[in-house]
Amino acid sequence: MTIRILFATRSAGKQREIRELAAGLPYEFVFPDDAGIFEQPEEENLENAETFEGNARRKAEFFARRSGLPTVAEDSGLEVLALGGAPGVRSKRFAGATHDVDTANNTELLRRLHGAAPLRRKARYRCVMVWIEHAGAAPRAFEGATDGVILEAPVGTGGFGYDPLFFSDEVGKTFAEAEPAEKHAVSHRGRAFQQFTAWLAGHPVGAGVR
Ligand code: IMP
Repeated sequence: MTIRILFATRSAGKQREIRELAAGLPYEFVFPDDAGIFEQPEEENLENAETFEGNARRKAEFFARRSGLPTVAEDSGLEVLALGGAPGVRSKRFAGATHDVDTANNTELLRRLHGAAPLRRKARYRCVMVWIEHAGAAPRAFEGATDGVILEAPVGTGGFGYDPLFFSDEVGKTFAEAEPAEKHAVSHRGRAFQQFTAWLAGHPVGAGVR
């Protein structure tokens, strides 16, 4: 019996990672387009909360209502010491670009950190996943974080987003140089997902069973 769960993200980078993280688990994660939930203008306003958890919860509630499926959503981002925790919840919109968003954000990050001493370049990726079994059910949050340093130039071609600039303390290379499994073992998303699926294993889903 496979449990069908909506993973409410339209980000190609996140979808790839969730497919990798979910391999071998007894759940079938589907993404909005696969479930016939096409993008709507209101989605623009779902990420207006001031916290990762607030944003993830708004996304989970919206997509649980629209899909009728058990739903998990996540919000994630990068907090940099020298920038007082920015870009944080605004990581995706940091440079305000509408195309080549990752390149524009990385350029903006390097510009803002120009001349910052290595100790001030410490950074943390954070991820909060929020699970809602059905519309109206109580949400449940799971968190993951991972520490590193922002380099002065990008290194590596894997991953997505800020990964070429994020030198992981635990892996000893950037997340863009790391193999997917190396990143997942320590990443904010890998850790939040691990917490979530460990909890789910002890709380069987009633709806969505096929
Ligand atoms: P959101 O959660 O959809 O608001 O977007 C999170 C943003 O944070 C992404 O667009 C990336 O810029 C950044 N981000 C989150 N997780 C990662 C990651 O694992 N690697 C690189 N960038 C990330």
